[in-house]
Amino acid sequence: MQRIQTRAALAVALESAPRPLGFVPTMGALHAGHAALIRAARSECATVVVSVYVNPTQFTHAADLAAYPRTLDADATLAERCGADLLFNPHDAEIYPPDEVVAAVDPGPLARRLEGAARPGHFAGVATVVSRLFDLVRPDRAYFGEKDAQQLRVVEWIAARRASGPPIAVRRVPTVRDSDGLALSSRNSRLTPAGRAAAVAVPRALDAARDARARGVVKVAELRAAAEGVLRSSSGLTIEYVDLADPVTLEALPESASIGEALLTVAVIVDGVRLLDERLLDDRGGA
Ligand code: PAF
Repeated sequence: MQRIQTRAALAVALESAPRPLGFVPTMGALHAGHAALIRAARSECATVVVSVYVNPTQFTHAADLAAYPRTLDADATLAERCGADLLFNPHDAEIYPPDEVVAAVDPGPLARRLEGAARPGHFAGVATVVSRLFDLVRPDRAYFGEKDAQQLRVVEWIAARRASGPPIAVRRVPTVRDSDGLALSSRNSRLTPAGRAAAVAVPRALDAARDARARGVVKVAELRAAAEGVLRSSSGLTIEYVDLADPVTLEALPESASIGEALLTVAVIVDGVRLLDERLLDDRGGA
């Protein structure tokens, strides 16, 4: 695997790279969830590029940016083991050159609710860096986890509106979970054993709503109650929100509505750590 830090070296390396080219953008601290993205790319692309870049513009608080784990050597080992051909690990000046105006990308209504409301500016930062990385890597396919469903919709929107370069197919990769059901996240390592036990209520709440939907429950209020009931029975967590949205527009669904499909998102705080998880509810039992 080749390790590259500059745009110029990346352009040279990509000139002769066989296509299709698969791209897995990350902020590092790679875990089995990222491994699944890289392996998915490897299984259907001739060249696999992984980027590791902690993007400052998507952090709301400077302290979170400073505390973000940086584990580049371990990331490189994992990326190589999963089949990556090239690791792109740029400095800030490569992505946001001081002598260039990098146009900020505003993803509009998709970014206003849910995590967008909780973390103002976050998705504009994600959309800006992903657009920038797409311009530099010019992939045929890009791989994103379903765990961050709102980010995925934002990225699909970016890919659909691109006017230059080859079309980019955004591939959705299912969430990877630990044996207790918790979705993999670099934040899980900050949970105490008691916090971890409390956090398991999150996937169970998603399961409860999924099972209710599969049994024929269609009312938003009842599906929400199924999820909230499980979360409330766990004493160690604080609910930030439980949301049912249209899976495409991410608009909130009225409580009285009857749904075919809905995206259920749960955000909670455990041990001071913010955890997020999502599931598509449909009559087939969801994803
Ligand atoms: O999901 C992430 O790790 C980041 O938001 C991404 C897509 C790499 C952009 O910085």
